[in-house]
Amino acid sequence: MENDLQAIVSQAEASQATISNRSDWDQAKAVILGPKGSLTQASKLIGKLPREEKPAFGQALNQAKKQVEALFANSLSRIEEQADLIALGKPYDPTLPAVPNRSASLHPLSATRRKVVAIFRKLGFTVTEATEAETEWFCFDALNTPEDHPARDEQDTLFFSPDSKWANVSKKAKEAHLLRTHTSSVQIRTMLREKPPLRVIAPGRCFRRDTVDATHSANFHQLEGLCVDRGVTLLDLKGVLDHFLKEMFGTKVQTRLRPSFFPFTEPSFEVDLKAPNLGKLSDKWIEIMGCGLVDPEVLKLVNLDPDEWSGFAFGVGIERITMILHGIDDIRHFYQNDQRFLSQFSGSL
Ligand code: DAH
Repeated sequence: MENDLQAIVSQAEASQATISNRSDWDQAKAVILGPKGSLTQASKLIGKLPREEKPAFGQALNQAKKQVEALFANSLSRIEEQADLIALGKPYDPTLPAVPNRSASLHPLSATRRKVVAIFRKLGFTVTEATEAETEWFCFDALNTPEDHPARDEQDTLFFSPDSKWANVSKKAKEAHLLRTHTSSVQIRTMLREKPPLRVIAPGRCFRRDTVDATHSANFHQLEGLCVDRGVTLLDLKGVLDHFLKEMFGTKVQTRLRPSFFPFTEPSFEVDLKAPNLGKLSDKWIEIMGCGLVDPEVLKLVNLDPDEWSGFAFGVGIERITMILHGIDDIRHFYQNDQRFLSQFSGSL
């Protein structure tokens, strides 16, 4: 009987050489371990043996079963490894290109903001921030903007409704709450908090009741600048902005101040630039930002004596800089999170 078991193990060993795929393996295994397999049949004999022979046969049976199962486990892992190699495509080609590296990068607007901030920090400006939900006083009144100015119209500005919890915070009707239309409100918050001399920049989100199109967005980003000191002149403003625009758009950039009007600066200017490296825009004067000397009325409103202190201020759109710099023709690209657009700017600044 034990000899029969030995023969079955030898049969299993011999069958291994014929196994080269999963169906060979299934077949060879069934011949020995299947319901009609030789080892299964042999194990049934135990019932017919005399009692005293049963333990020895049982032991031999277990031993044979272990050996056979080990043989089939080995051959299964061998054919599975082979199948994997075939699936991977043999032979291995070391000249294939690597899997593309999809590492993350900054959004183009973040990259622009960081670059602008870095330029002004080198000039001694510190970064400050303020709330996006603002009172009408900080956004308009304190910036010398009269009651009938179009920016204060409900058509232009996102006011909180009179029954919102924001509206209840303020007592006077004059302090209606709104989403700030520009970062200029940070000028007032800064001058009320800190004594001059001061030099700050304030990057942040702004909101207007604009219908979204290629050049307008109801939510966009600005960067405000403010410098207040003794004897600040237009020359300081021009020098700082020229330096900033050269750093941003290249040393060949030309700039000009064009007289304009803002309620909180006097005199006020639009800054135009022209640069040879701006593709289709190279031969045009392009409006880039607003600026001016802080209006003495604004200084008085924050309890600064205009005979002692003077200052300059400027405001620039982060989207605008980025669009000019990269020749982007539609502001909506910035907010759609399309990888095909965004991936073009990785490491661009
Ligand atoms: N707040 C202005 C706007 O949103 C931009 C601006 C103009 C800011 C002149 C200034 C400035 O600080 O001096 O259009």
